[in-house]
Amino acid sequence: MMPTPLYDLLRSLADRDLLRLDMPGHHGLPLPYDLPWPTDLDCTENGLSGDLFGGGRDAIAAAEELWAERFGFDACLFLTGGSTQGVHAGLALLAGAGGHVALDRGAHRSAYNALALLDLTPHYLPRPWLEREGVTGPIDPDQVEKLLDDRPEIKTICITSPTYYGVLSDIPAIAAVCHAYGARLMVDGAHGAHLPFLGYEGYSAADAVVMSAHKALPAPGQTALLFANGSSLDDLRRVGSLYGSSSPSYVMMAALDLARDYMEREGTTKYRETAASAAALREKYPALGEVPGLTLDPARLTLLCGDGFALADRLREKGCLPELADMGHVVFICTCADSPERFARLDGLLAAEDWSNPAHCPPPPALPPMALAPREALFAPREAVPLASSEDRIAAEQIAPYPPGVPVVAPGEVITKKTLAYLKQIGYNSELVSVIRP
Ligand SMILES: Cc1ncc(COP(=O)(O)O)c(C=O)c1O
Repeated sequence: MMPTPLYDLLRSLADRDLLRLDMPGHHGLPLPYDLPWPTDLDCTENGLSGDLFGGGRDAIAAAEELWAERFGFDACLFLTGGSTQGVHAGLALLAGAGGHVALDRGAHRSAYNALALLDLTPHYLPRPWLEREGVTGPIDPDQVEKLLDDRPEIKTICITSPTYYGVLSDIPAIAAVCHAYGARLMVDGAHGAHLPFLGYEGYSAADAVVMSAHKALPAPGQTALLFANGSSLDDLRRVGSLYGSSSPSYVMMAALDLARDYMEREGTTKYRETAASAAALREKYPALGEVPGLTLDPARLTLLCGDGFALADRLREKGCLPELADMGHVVFICTCADSPERFARLDGLLAAEDWSNPAHCPPPPALPPMALAPREALFAPREAVPLASSEDRIAAEQIAPYPPGVPVVAPGEVITKKTLAYLKQIGYNSELVSVIRP
């Protein structure tokens, strides 16, 4: 098989003198690879370029198969709507509608929205709090087992690995527990698309995994991948099409084809160099990384500091853009695009800072009571009220400050006195909050 079957086919189509009088309206100028959808011109030995959600064995399917093989899955679907589309599609695939799901409390907003759209009942999986680091630790497989033991109606588990801060959970151990209870595991690996190229094999133990190519790989915004074991490409197409455009972008799909090929050539070596450079900075500055038993994304650089917001502002003034800042951390996404020179520049900026007093980030409060199911909360009439006077109101949206990056309140839950005290303690400064109208 050609290393880049989709990209090669699009190139050969773009080279033809086609009188394009269809969509997209630019007709090839200036984006010759942005073709009509679906393109059913049979122009090379590869055959048709394909239909992302159609049933054919075409160039898109060939490119997807290369990803599936490389990452150890039965099937892969290209996504042009980010991991958001993949989380929705993955939960539709594994949980369907109306069931019970064990959800990582630290799940992304897309998972909370999927609960509402699919009318799923959540049972939250807690995470331990790492006191010194001020972040949540990995999901404990024993907690998963306890929950599945207590609630046999749960047939789908959805966890995030790695977290935004780079903390990985033990996916094979959690998958083994799930499978022993006849349940299936979905992993939101939005931040982990580079990890299998670095030798990490944990993902393929799960039943479905979504990854944002655009977060950690050299790929454009919104490109993502949905992988599955025990489900076919047709299964993935069916659920992917529920949440995807009927005109998915060939440019984005070709970029996914190219990104894998690049990673299989020099990209992986460059990524290893990046991981080494990130490790050197972790040694030099207070960082997430020294807890025994903690498995971390080797390329994610999470520094522990006195005031992350102020530090990030100073860095931005000097032309350096971190990914995330909170009261006690600054997080940098380091990829194969970052040369040793770029790390030296970052080091120079960090060396000018005072690292002597890391902030103390308090653990999140206990979960508030749930008053409305996620679906009722999503579709109920709402109003904005000052946060300070929202006690005892039912949240219509999640309040998810960083850290912990997990919702302190999820839609449908009651905003309690403890919630408000915690938000004040961590300096959460949103003035208004959206609540259910009485
Ligand atoms: C853990 C996690 N899952 C899913 C998403 C959604 O990803 P995307 O922006 O690719 O839609 C994000 C985005 O930040 C995320 O952090």
